[in-house]
Amino acid sequence: MSVVYLNGDFVPAEKATVSVFDRGFLLGDGVYEVIPVFSGCLFRLQAHLQRLQNSLDAIKLENPLLFKQWEDMLKQLIAENTHPELSIYLQVTRGAAVRDHAFPVDPKPGIFAMANPIQKLADRYFEKGVSAITLEDNRWQRCNIKAISLLPNVLLRQQAVEQGMAEAILIRNGELTEGAASNVFVVNNGKIMTPAKSQYILPGITRDLVVELAQENNIACVEQTVTESMLLNADEIWLTSSTKEILPVTTLNDKPVGDGRPGSVWKRIAEIYRDYKNTLIHSPDC
Ligand code: PDD
Repeated sequence: MSVVYLNGDFVPAEKATVSVFDRGFLLGDGVYEVIPVFSGCLFRLQAHLQRLQNSLDAIKLENPLLFKQWEDMLKQLIAENTHPELSIYLQVTRGAAVRDHAFPVDPKPGIFAMANPIQKLADRYFEKGVSAITLEDNRWQRCNIKAISLLPNVLLRQQAVEQGMAEAILIRNGELTEGAASNVFVVNNGKIMTPAKSQYILPGITRDLVVELAQENNIACVEQTVTESMLLNADEIWLTSSTKEILPVTTLNDKPVGDGRPGSVWKRIAEIYRDYKNTLIHSPDC
């Protein structure tokens, strides 16, 4: 039986209930984070909590907890749900109020967090890569906010799944943005590229780490516009996210990417990422 955190208390999951008047439930008025936990270590906690703060600022909702309070609460949640690899989901909504689009005058934010074992992809997905399709990015223009109102992403991902694909890779005005629930990297002639941060993509924590690790290891990696034709002609394509880490795409729109196998640049970066993760989880910071 898992234990979740709800508005100040740790309770068994099946006992955790929220008001039907919660604005998260009625209006999708809230923001969230997904934080991986490896060997008990909250991976890049500072960066996740900073992004949460940015999302809260963007929706004009005061952060209900201080950094230390978040950290203490999350550590207790991990202690209540021991597993070597957890994915923490946390969300802050604008709380229960009489239904009205405009903000309530004195909001009482709703805080919820749960920790679930990471649904690890089988090794074969990393050995062979996954398939994806390109779809028109028809989401709103504030995709940098990690908002709980995810219906456009849900519909895009579902369209991909119904075609037997792992992810929908999104194109807006002829340019790559991101995946329905991931960031995207392409490699052309050995050079790694990923779209620069903007209001059209979520600033992924894994994305930032990949850019950082590539640069530290003198592997050319540039944050720049990636056109649809650069994507379609890429030697390698990767998806990044906290739970999928760095996943090679080897088929795009039913055509092989490069030679149809995970590429050499992906192999190098995946190795660097694995070493980084191992060092981090054994460091005193965790
Ligand atoms: N989603 N872009 C979108 C639209 C996402 O939903 C995600 C992650 C990412 C990658 O961000 P990060 O590296 O910080 O996980 C990019 C999470 C995992 C989710 O919604 O479950």
